[in-house]
Amino acid sequence: MSTDRAPLPARSRHASRTEMNEYVLPSHANALGNVFGGQVMAWVDVGGAIAAQRHSGRVCVTAFVDDLRFQNPVKIGEVIHLEAEVTATFKTSLEVHIRVEGENPRTGERWPCVDAMLTFVAIDDHGRPVPVPPLDLTDEIAQKTQRAGEERREKRLEKSHAARPQTDR
Ligand SMILES: CC(C)(COP(=O)(O)OP(=O)(O)OC[C@H]1O[C@@H](n2cnc3c(N)ncnc32)[C@H](O)[C@@H]1OP(=O)(O)O)[C@@H](O)C(=O)NCCC(=O)NCCS
Repeated sequence: MSTDRAPLPARSRHASRTEMNEYVLPSHANALGNVFGGQVMAWVDVGGAIAAQRHSGRVCVTAFVDDLRFQNPVKIGEVIHLEAEVTATFKTSLEVHIRVEGENPRTGERWPCVDAMLTFVAIDDHGRPVPVPPLDLTDEIAQKTQRAGEERREKRLEKSHAARPQTDR
């Protein structure tokens, strides 16, 4: 990891805030006319990556996806509304909360679709992890999300180490 940089100034959680809207087309749907889970996961990854890069000012790669639950379907002709925000930062990695809602664009009705936490790692031009700016903890909400993120990090690293396959890559 590169260590040749001075400590980075903290960034507000608002700096990473990302919103996306996607119209569900037949090409996004399964035989039931509902959006594919894999398509929603791709949008979750994209939204999370934008938030991570807005915070860090670096290219970020997805390192870990916490339990991801599909709460309700979204059909063709409805809208996927996604909001993402950095909730905790560590050294070179950061955690992003992504909330996805379905929306009926004609009535404005919204319902929960997916709630997910993703961990991204900031990398340099050679693909090596680089430090990310800390989250601004003068904000009370950020203090809470940072604490909760640190607890989740312990669990995901345990899980990740337990499951790590032997590889020569
Ligand atoms: C993510 C990646 C850059 C980490 O590289 P690495 O050599 O393992 O780096 P390190 O061991 O130094 O860890 C770097 C950071 O990643 C975190 N990390 C690594 N694996 C992780 C995992 N499975 N879950 C959560 N965090 C993880 C470490 O905790 C560390 O964070 P910290 O600096 O904030 O403490 C590397 O594993 C990689 O490139 N993975 C593939 C990513 C990818 O292709 N994603 C999909 C396409 S974007």
